[in-house]
Amino acid sequence: MSIRWRLLISHTTMLIVTLVLFLISALLIPVAITGDIRSIKDLYTRQYALKPLTKPEENVFLDVKYLAKKQPNQLLNETTLKQFDQKLDPVSSGLIIRKGKKIVHSSKILNSIKDEKKLPSFEPENIKVRETISIDHQFFLYVKFDFYFPDQEEGSVIIMREVSPFVELSRSLFPLIFGALFLSLILVNGLLSYFVSRSIIKPLFSLKTATEQMGEGNLNVKIDHARQDEIGQLSYEFDKMRKKLKDSIELQLQYEESRKELISNISHDLKTPITAIKGYIEGIQDGVADSQGKMEKYLSTIKRKATDMDQLIDDLFLFSKLDLKKLPFYFEGIEINRFIINFVEEASFDLEEKGIQVNVENRTKNEVKVIADRDKLRRVMTNIINNSVKHMKKSEKNICININEEADFVEIEVRDNGSGIEEQSLPYIFDRFYRVDTSRNKSTGGSGLGLAIAKQIITEHDGDIWVESQIGVGTSIFFTLKKSI
Ligand SMILES: Nc1ncnc2c1ncn2[C@@H]1O[C@H](COP(=O)(O)OP(=O)(O)O)[C@@H](O)[C@H]1O
Ligand SMILES: [Mg+2]
Repeated sequence: MSIRWRLLISHTTMLIVTLVLFLISALLIPVAITGDIRSIKDLYTRQYALKPLTKPEENVFLDVKYLAKKQPNQLLNETTLKQFDQKLDPVSSGLIIRKGKKIVHSSKILNSIKDEKKLPSFEPENIKVRETISIDHQFFLYVKFDFYFPDQEEGSVIIMREVSPFVELSRSLFPLIFGALFLSLILVNGLLSYFVSRSIIKPLFSLKTATEQMGEGNLNVKIDHARQDEIGQLSYEFDKMRKKLKDSIELQLQYEESRKELISNISHDLKTPITAIKGYIEGIQDGVADSQGKMEKYLSTIKRKATDMDQLIDDLFLFSKLDLKKLPFYFEGIEINRFIINFVEEASFDLEEKGIQVNVENRTKNEVKVIADRDKLRRVMTNIINNSVKHMKKSEKNICININEEADFVEIEVRDNGSGIEEQSLPYIFDRFYRVDTSRNKSTGGSGLGLAIAKQIITEHDGDIWVESQIGVGTSIFFTLKKSI
């Protein structure tokens, strides 16, 4: 069932219930006042009969009727009539006796009625006994009995009481008022249902349209959520969901793009050494390496290329495992000063061979422990120092390691006096496959994964890694590690 129908039904039900309750209370009010269940019947039958008689009126009427039938002349007797007047006075009623065309008696209360012609006409059949009549803008209820005097003159006894014209009017207009009321209720009900349902259905409908469009892939639909009600809140949440969905799809597309780029980079980086190896082998087969010396040179080049490829595949494997979070980390408290000194001692033989001086400066005064995975941290240091070694062109070659203790972490700086990195490349050097020198065949050309791997490892340690560099002066790579408490 649609919301519109539901609203219409609920409104109508409310209306009917209200009407029924109204009627019940209207019926029960007389009972509450009189304490008598029969009063309901009395009140309403009287109201609708339009000709109510009070007890004194009823009694007097019976008496005068009796006299009219048996001793009509008694109705001309002043003392008898006075007695009747006295009985009728307390209920604001009066008695009129008409003989022929003349009013022969009229109670004081009915003094305003002078003109006989305005009284109800003579009617020997006595059919219209109880009626309402309007005389000179006044309304009267009356009960009448017509008879003949002994002298055969027409006679009438009329007991009359004035009633409010308003009551009379509302009585005669009652069906009309009731009808109009009922109609206006139906009209208001219809209009209310229409407007309320419109205010709910319209925004719901636009939400539905938006959902359909989103289903078809349009995530840029505009959803209006200016309303301050529940539907406004729903639209707001819906719009929030749309934005999130849009962001996540964009991220997905970005991933997809970088995955494609990764595959193309890998293919390129593997293809280059393999093509070279193939070329050298073909050279050997074709007898180009005709001397022992040439053969040695060819073979050693092939070996170097194969080793590069091996290294590249190793790096790639490590990087992808880190990327997929498939590599387990074994964190422990490591005394950082001792760790760095040991690392430098191990590497110093190779480095001194290349004429590189390594110093560890500013080591912390106290023993400081950091939370780290020993092997992975060694990998980070190796990747950073290998870069420094590769890009060292000066005669005096220095690498300096600084250890700075901060409140919650330790900051390590590896500074070299190498070639430096141009400023526009700095934001990218931690990206995978990024190399400042894009010609991939140069002697310095690595996989472009060294710093990307270092960043992955440091991030897994909840640390930061960044670079500061000046072309021609040198490069500093900084990273942080959390202190163990
Ligand atoms: N100490 C450094 N001195 C100069 N350039 C550096 C240094 N460290 C890194 N770079 C630049 O950053 C790039 C990315 O480094 P890396 O990820 O280790 O890749 P790779 O060493 O395989 O080229 C390098 O190609 C190099 O150009
Ligand atoms: Mg490197």
